Amino acid sequence: MQNPITKNQLFDTFSSVDSMKIPHINQQEYLVDGEFKAWNGPFKEIDSAICKPNSTDGLERISLGEIPKTGLPEAFECLESSEKAYDNGFGEWPMMSVEKRIFHVEKFVGEMINLRTEVVNLLMWEIGKSEKDSEKEFDRTIKYIYDTIESLKKLERKSASFTIEEGVIGQVRRSPLGVTLCIGPYNYPLNETYTLLIPALIMGNVVLFKPPKHGCLLHYSLSKAIQKSFPKGVVNYLYGKGSEIIQPLMNTGKINVLTLIGSSKVASDIKKAHPKVNRLRAILGLDAKNPAIVLENANLENAVDECVLGSLSFNGQRCTALKILYVHENIKEEFLKKFCEKVDALKFGMPWDEKVQITPLPEADKFKYLNDCISDAEAKGGHIINKNGGVQNGSLFFPAVIYPVKDGMKLFREEQFGPLVPIVSFTDLQEPIDYMITSNYGQQVSIFGTDTKEISHLIDGLVNQVSRVNINVQCQRGPDTFPFTGRKDSAEGTLSVYDALRSFSIRTVVATKENKENKAIINKIVTDEESSFLSTKFIF
Ligand code: G3H
Repeated sequence: MQNPITKNQLFDTFSSVDSMKIPHINQQEYLVDGEFKAWNGPFKEIDSAICKPNSTDGLERISLGEIPKTGLPEAFECLESSEKAYDNGFGEWPMMSVEKRIFHVEKFVGEMINLRTEVVNLLMWEIGKSEKDSEKEFDRTIKYIYDTIESLKKLERKSASFTIEEGVIGQVRRSPLGVTLCIGPYNYPLNETYTLLIPALIMGNVVLFKPPKHGCLLHYSLSKAIQKSFPKGVVNYLYGKGSEIIQPLMNTGKINVLTLIGSSKVASDIKKAHPKVNRLRAILGLDAKNPAIVLENANLENAVDECVLGSLSFNGQRCTALKILYVHENIKEEFLKKFCEKVDALKFGMPWDEKVQITPLPEADKFKYLNDCISDAEAKGGHIINKNGGVQNGSLFFPAVIYPVKDGMKLFREEQFGPLVPIVSFTDLQEPIDYMITSNYGQQVSIFGTDTKEISHLIDGLVNQVSRVNINVQCQRGPDTFPFTGRKDSAEGTLSVYDALRSFSIRTVVATKENKENKAIINKIVTDEESSFLSTKFIF
């Protein structure tokens, strides 16, 4: 049996930083109204997830540069530009034909592909994501954009005709909603942000974009591609403290759509700041505490492998991560043994290390929270049961498996969003069911088992508790054509390549009475291609 890993081993892992070229970006401008405006005010320092040894034999986070710390006047300047670009629906962008909007998005994606190396590198340095996963995030995003274009073309083709019902001629299409405030998350700062921003844009909305707090420098590079690809004011970049600028922006009542991936508390506070909340469309990906239910007859090898992946990919920093494991009492011992062995064997290191699985965490204050969760569980009878669990140094935290976890512990209900795996054992199937019924969250569940009757019973009840039931596999968002949503405090609206196009638009009809004069008017508009909306043009 191998010895437990030590703090010193974690320390040594950071030494490979010396041989790397560290990116450094001093962003002294921001994109507003189609121009990069120089910023002469205060700046916010951006630290890496990765540390380097310091003069006192400790580790400190590496500085990657700075971004403007703009304030309220700049936020309002961005809002004004967005309003101008939308111009109450009469702006160039919302009135543009879908075909032309697609042309702009294609131009952008072409520019974006050229930035792959830079963006992947920044993903590694800013949020500590492994090179392989950073590349995957980039490539998945490119595919998402192309799939979005194809999906929109299909949608448009279906709308390229008129309907005549009860003497009324009508054409139904989808129209934009207006000024969209878009805030992305730090764990997928590129992919999840763009799964909001791109469908919002392509449907004709204009976007006020606030880059995530970690993973913001990569958006500076991308903002240059945005500037080259879209008409001015269609995307404006917000910097500065969210807590200082977002509420005043909402208070104006001029934001029509709020889209973010983040916490339900933040989302609900932002929504409440809108003076006419019924006018606000919200498309939100929020908190989750997805359970795994490992049944007595589960294929144990598979359940262990999927639960390790599901709970600890990207250090557990996924909204879809398995955040609590319910394991049947009769297989508990074997499951725990195998699970801990697999967790302890996870390879820790730097994002560029080959096959690395556990990497540095971007949030400086996260260790305190993780350690608080562990102390709280220990004070209430739980233990770290894997030999390397909780070893930490610099920004590396080796995953801790905690058992037995019970109601009343922080880890029982709180979304840890990090490398802690709480495990509960159960004898009566009603226990995990009741856990889910009483949970504030309803995103997904993973069921591991082989008894089809038991699985069917769980499927039929749990589809009414969560939005995706996974059988013998971890929880996840992909494939991106599948709907991604949740019940309770886990989401509002639905995302997927197709659903996002619907979420960021509204069905709208142009209708007239079926008579000779109106038919002539419509025929002329369509034949001479006088309108973008009223059209039978078939997009190829
Ligand atoms: O953070 C939540 C992401 O949507 C998870 O996506 O399941 O593909 O990792 P994923």
